[in-house]
Amino acid sequence: MSVEFSFDDRSMTAHPGQSVGAALLANGVRSWRTTRFGGRPRGLFCGIGVCFDCLVTVNGEPNVRACLAAVADGDVVSTQVGDGHVASATERGADLTSDGRGDERD
Ligand code: FES
Repeated sequence: MSVEFSFDDRSMTAHPGQSVGAALLANGVRSWRTTRFGGRPRGLFCGIGVCFDCLVTVNGEPNVRACLAAVADGDVVSTQVGDGHVASATERGADLTSDGRGDERD
């Protein structure tokens, strides 16, 4: 049995109970938001709900911690830009696949 969800219009699957962050990593996605200043890519960092690096938009709700929220069947997960808006098509075209971690913390 698996859970089906989408990320930026791409269909993906997850195990029931898996976190959004774990499901995205399992589907080859390493970054799903950009920072407010500089637009640097972010994904999982602490993995335990402390750092807020993993914020993502789920079903239109911004600032969901991907490491804590369980993915549900039919969830629509979207790249989040800066302070919490869903990425436009142009913004989604930016390369969010590289690690890109710098010293910027936001
Ligand atoms: S990875 Fe740190 S809060 Fe989610």
